[in-house]
Amino acid sequence: MCGIVGYVGNEAALPVLIEGMRQLEYRGYDSAGVAIAASGGIARVRRAGQLGNLEEALDGAELSGTIGIGHTRWATHGAPDDTNAHPHVDSSGKVAIVHNGIVENFDVLKEELEAEGHAFESETDTEVVAKLVGSIMESTGVSLLEATLATVDRLEGAFGLVLVHADEPETIVAVRQDSPIIVGANGHAGLVASGIPALLPYTRDVIPLENRQVAEIRPGSVRVLDFEGREVDAETVHVEWDLDAAEKSGYEDFMLKEIFEQPEAVRNTMRGRVDKQGHITLDEVTWSRADIEGITKVVVVACGTSYHSGMAAKHAIEHYTRIPVELDLASEFRYRDPVLDEHSLVIGIAQSGETADTLAAVRFAKDMGAMVVAITNVAGSSIARDADAVLFTHAGPEIGVAATKTFLAQLVALNLFALYLARERGVMEADKLSETIDAMRALPDQIEEVLTLQGEVHRAAKRYADARDFIFIGRGVGMAVALEGALKLKEISYIHAEGYAAGELKHGAIALIEGGVPVVAILTGTALYDKMLGNVQEVKARGAETILIAPRNDERARSLANEMFEMPTTKPLLTPILDTIPLQMLAYFVAKERGLSPDKPRNLAKSVTVE
Ligand code: G6P
Repeated sequence: MCGIVGYVGNEAALPVLIEGMRQLEYRGYDSAGVAIAASGGIARVRRAGQLGNLEEALDGAELSGTIGIGHTRWATHGAPDDTNAHPHVDSSGKVAIVHNGIVENFDVLKEELEAEGHAFESETDTEVVAKLVGSIMESTGVSLLEATLATVDRLEGAFGLVLVHADEPETIVAVRQDSPIIVGANGHAGLVASGIPALLPYTRDVIPLENRQVAEIRPGSVRVLDFEGREVDAETVHVEWDLDAAEKSGYEDFMLKEIFEQPEAVRNTMRGRVDKQGHITLDEVTWSRADIEGITKVVVVACGTSYHSGMAAKHAIEHYTRIPVELDLASEFRYRDPVLDEHSLVIGIAQSGETADTLAAVRFAKDMGAMVVAITNVAGSSIARDADAVLFTHAGPEIGVAATKTFLAQLVALNLFALYLARERGVMEADKLSETIDAMRALPDQIEEVLTLQGEVHRAAKRYADARDFIFIGRGVGMAVALEGALKLKEISYIHAEGYAAGELKHGAIALIEGGVPVVAILTGTALYDKMLGNVQEVKARGAETILIAPRNDERARSLANEMFEMPTTKPLLTPILDTIPLQMLAYFVAKERGLSPDKPRNLAKSVTVE
């Protein structure tokens, strides 16, 4: 999520860091900061906002030194302001650290350090790590590398860390656990970054660290160790990509890269919120049990893709909690004179957190006295500030205009929230809850499986790339998938596509079916499987080409399919988290076949801040 850079060599570090941060800024732009070690001290400059703000602050600043670290932040813990900006330092001011990821047990460690007399300036988990490393160095006199090795054993969660110490001006230490860290060296410099682009101007031979590895980076050399301190024979990769390809990690487009980041997006959204025993912790939701028991209705408001995650969430919330749920397009909501009071819970969903219609809906709901929770991917966004509670999707920055990984992350956050409400209201049995959590924990691996369908989906996309119309049908949560599939195709391939409730087809849209019209049908996740098959038969009888999202080894479906994508088994309410993926890939490959740029579709913007 965040961008991380480190340099040690014989040149001034600052320009190298700034250039590297520029290459990685797409990974986060809530704040930027650098720390340079020189003359036995650490000089640090940090600013909220984009890299340009930091560059302005650095103008004229004396920050010479040949070793340093830099960071562009995608906020997770703490508001995106100057104080929470990285790098963070330990209590002696000699250790500086940048971090990408989430340290889940930071609160326990923080309490411990506070008891020892350490004071914290920021709300971040990262400062806790800095202070822990510093305190180990001070009490035991070990090196930065040894103190880091002693620290990582105590951290839970995801962390890519890069550290320097003022008294060790030739050493950078880097750590990888679930967050990418790439290291490299040339004749006179050592480098580290969270992405390959930042290293390319200096070397094309890089070492992507594996999980549970630590690197000691010095001018001209890199040494890789495991968390136990044993030296590892790490593999060097020669990178042929140019800079543009490197930013996309070798993918042709951000959209495809983001589709393939979905296992991580889902994993990160669950991280720290569920455990093996089936417990759900949502720290951000602080309403009392009585408040939650008092909710009489839920209203979900959103636009675009977020509206479709809301549509799937309606099913989950009603099923788990038995609270009635209304679903509204944000642009319609406040103009329909909705009935709300202090027992209404309004869920505003916005990837960007800045969509004008959704913000207006959330503010309107607050004025009406309702409880408001926001689901967003952007810390510090307007919706996060306006709502009473926020549930962040930790999908990382999404660059492609068509939402993909944030959609899956929203579905995960909303399902967790629904289960949380059910538990707080005491309406869900513990074993059913933990069974559902188990199914959610299996999702990242199942998403990986679905992503292997890439070749099959590409073949289907070639076959139908010239279609004039597409129809998508589903029932239950499958209807939300159908609508999202149609929206993806419209957005980036400019083909007319309709998403329809399968049972409603006969009341209108079936008139559009003629020989060769592709119809995508979602067969999983519904108790009405037979009725869905009936709908597929109806369109087939009228000459449609059928593309089926079906359970594995389903012979009945296969006998009716022109193309069929087979899905792993999960709980019915979770099927959209898997079923949407082939439809994202279908839209992507159809757009590519038509020679279009999926990342920047015409007339659309990533964040729509006008009504
Ligand atoms: C724009 C984007 C869509 C997105 C919608 C809602 O129209 O092009 O991809 O789904 O806004 O965005 P939000 O940030 O509110 O989720």
